Amino acid sequence: MTVGKVIAIANQKGGVGKTTSAVNLSAALVRKRKKVLLVDSDPQGNTTSGIGVSRKHEKKQLYHCYTGEIPIKDVLTVPNSKHPLTVIPSGIDLAAAEMELFPIPDREYVLRNLLKEIRDDYDFVIIDCPPSLGLLTINSLTAADSVLIPMQCEYFAMEGLAQLISTIRSVKKSLNKSLFVEGLLLTMFDKRNRLTFQVESEIKKHFGDQVFKTVIPRNVRLSECPSHGQSVIEYDVRSTGAQAYIKLVNEFLRRQK
Ligand SMILES: Nc1ncnc2c1ncn2[C@@H]1O[C@H](COP(=O)(O)OP(=O)(O)OP(=O)(O)O)[C@@H](O)[C@H]1O
Ligand SMILES: [Mg+2]
Repeated sequence: MTVGKVIAIANQKGGVGKTTSAVNLSAALVRKRKKVLLVDSDPQGNTTSGIGVSRKHEKKQLYHCYTGEIPIKDVLTVPNSKHPLTVIPSGIDLAAAEMELFPIPDREYVLRNLLKEIRDDYDFVIIDCPPSLGLLTINSLTAADSVLIPMQCEYFAMEGLAQLISTIRSVKKSLNKSLFVEGLLLTMFDKRNRLTFQVESEIKKHFGDQVFKTVIPRNVRLSECPSHGQSVIEYDVRSTGAQAYIKLVNEFLRRQK
């Protein structure tokens, strides 16, 4: 298995389960004794607060690495010593990075260059992207080996997907030739809703084996755990949400060569 594989969790559509998947996929990998670095690349900072990074890290965040103020090694934090998951936190400051990056010639490669120094200290580096296709997402896709796309099974899911796939293609063409789609993950899966199955079969028709067999059901534990600053693995490992992410990690690890 490759060391330091970088996976961007991306979908420009908001609220599809990117952060929930980034946090809980990372936590389920840690449970499997993998060394994982979770990078919050979203100014909303949902990963950062959801995994329990303390406020004292406000001045040591990804933004300060983008600007060159702080070396990347100095922003790493492990919010819970019982679950050794390393995090690069973010907050609203990061929103400024997008504008400040604009005049820089290598603006799409900043995150890639920052991660170069540390990625091989981990088995996996998971990047939570914001709900946009702006420079923060482009930096994440340029830094990544692969992209994992969470999707909610709802009517508009496919429309945004075409745009995302076309962005991935253009990043592949001009910035990161080896980028590939790790898989599509169906989230907030609701078995009682007929539309869910229609959308699922539509997605499978287009993407076949690229769709993870494991689906993530709607589960209240998954929505509760961030307010406790914990992944669902720590919060309630027996919940259907935790079991789904554990199953996803098993499938994900089987797929790694
Ligand atoms: N499987 C699930 N079951 C129940 N609630 C979920 C599930 N997945 C995500 N949620 C909830 O849905 C909301 C959106 O999820 P999440 O924050 O992971 O999406 P996102 O794609 O990261 O959003 P954004 O685009 O704003 O970054 C959150 O309140 C989250 O707790
Ligand atoms: Mg999010």
